[in-house]
Amino acid sequence: MTLTVCLMASEAAPLSKTGGLADVSSALTKYLHAAGHDVRLFTPAYSSIDRGKFPMLPVEGLQNMDVAVGPHRYVMSVMTTPMPGSAASIYLIDCPALYSRATLYTADPDEHLRFLAFTRAVFACCQRMQWSPQILHCNDWHTAFAPLFLKGAYDWDRSFAGTRSVLTIHNIGYQGVFSSASIEDLALGPKNYLLHQEDLRGGRINPLRHGIIYADAITTVSPTHAREISTDQYGMGLQDTLRARGSALTGILNGVDYDEWDPRHDHYLPKHFDPGTLEVKAQLKQQLLQRLKLEIPPATPLAGMVSRLASQKGIDLMFESVPQVLEWRDLGFVALGSGDAQYEKVLTELQQNFPGRVVFRRGYDDELAHWIEAACDMFVMPSLYEPCGLNQMYSLRYGTVPIVRKTGGLADSVENYDPVTGHGTGIVFNDFDSEALEWGLNTALDLYAEPEHWARMVRNGMQRDFSWQRQGGLYVDLYKRLIA
Ligand code: ADP
Ligand code: GLC
Repeated sequence: MTLTVCLMASEAAPLSKTGGLADVSSALTKYLHAAGHDVRLFTPAYSSIDRGKFPMLPVEGLQNMDVAVGPHRYVMSVMTTPMPGSAASIYLIDCPALYSRATLYTADPDEHLRFLAFTRAVFACCQRMQWSPQILHCNDWHTAFAPLFLKGAYDWDRSFAGTRSVLTIHNIGYQGVFSSASIEDLALGPKNYLLHQEDLRGGRINPLRHGIIYADAITTVSPTHAREISTDQYGMGLQDTLRARGSALTGILNGVDYDEWDPRHDHYLPKHFDPGTLEVKAQLKQQLLQRLKLEIPPATPLAGMVSRLASQKGIDLMFESVPQVLEWRDLGFVALGSGDAQYEKVLTELQQNFPGRVVFRRGYDDELAHWIEAACDMFVMPSLYEPCGLNQMYSLRYGTVPIVRKTGGLADSVENYDPVTGHGTGIVFNDFDSEALEWGLNTALDLYAEPEHWARMVRNGMQRDFSWQRQGGLYVDLYKRLIA
């Protein structure tokens, strides 16, 4: 049975990316297309997208559309560009007034409008294309008003009568809250009663909350996180709303796009490896050490990190534990990331305090991210919360042992190594404190000193399969249940 799926996401790799949402929206599209479904991925045509590399062709019938967003009017055109490594198409909503900004996301006063307009544009495109998707799959707060629009703004349109909605929560920490003074931007008129009244009385409108209330199904990106977000500890204020929708909420672990992330054919690497050719990994480590001017001997373990520098990622735990471990043990450390100034400062100081042993590269660098995955011995992810996390799964495939905190998708994808049984793929710690991370780092270093255990743990991890072949099927099952 061929499904028609309209996917909407605020980022799509490799065109526009700040985090894992980009990898997931593209990879799920690729999977669904390859499985024979009619899937169309919509995303904004940000000005930062390299139009030389990704040529954009205008889609006939979808040019210069007038799209109303409450009292605001925008002229929008739809472009398409082929998806690398797939015959699926991406539909890009072009509107320079909204998407020509220095960054994908902004703190501008019209931030909510940028994504309300995007959401409205997707409905307008479906109507113009006379395309009635069976599934409207929205992601995170940016597109979370789609389920409510389906029920409250397009309920007159018979072409959406059979459409069911799915909201995937990738990051509950970002909810897109805006002032209720902008209520007219939703253009719900007499249907304003559909809005969350308590929030309105408090003067705010929370897009993510409305997605949770009105989507036919809600997913998040790991089974453990699906349980976590209904608790006070992890719900970020939405736990009651999530509990009320309990039976509609499930967790589906993200897949990995092994076309992009596999040491057997990684296009950023000069040489490739698999579990039988780990000497190549050691050579790549030497090259990376030279390139980064790290002065540790070849036998000294190298730990890596690639991350948005946000409190979510548990960088606070590194303030004390990492210098402590560096002080006492042989270890090199490379970190790539950007974000909160306080974290950038701490990592810069770490580099200054341990010259030749620590390198911090501030910024976003896809190529270096692949090199870090390939060349390091260990990968550090001490997250405060982690809906899924992709880097630990990439690390497993590259034979780079993940050191993770037991939360969300980290708990669902990394199994603590047990030297007695030889089972396990990484180092997993429970508590969110410096001592726990320090224990994790020391345990990893102890195991590194026992080559048989280390080799076994590396091999266990490299054999794990988190491909979209498996995870994508779970979305298809969900879609089918919804339209049955
Ligand atoms: P999140 O979406 O919360 O940032 P994920 O682990 O799901 O976390 O995904 C992060 C993705 O972004 C990975 O593909 C990772 O390699 C990439 N990434 C994060 N920071 C950087 C950076 N500074 N440079 C290159 N890639 C990065
Ligand atoms: C989010 C989460 C991350 C997840 C990604 C893709 O940004 O922080 O854990 O892997 O989305 O779903």
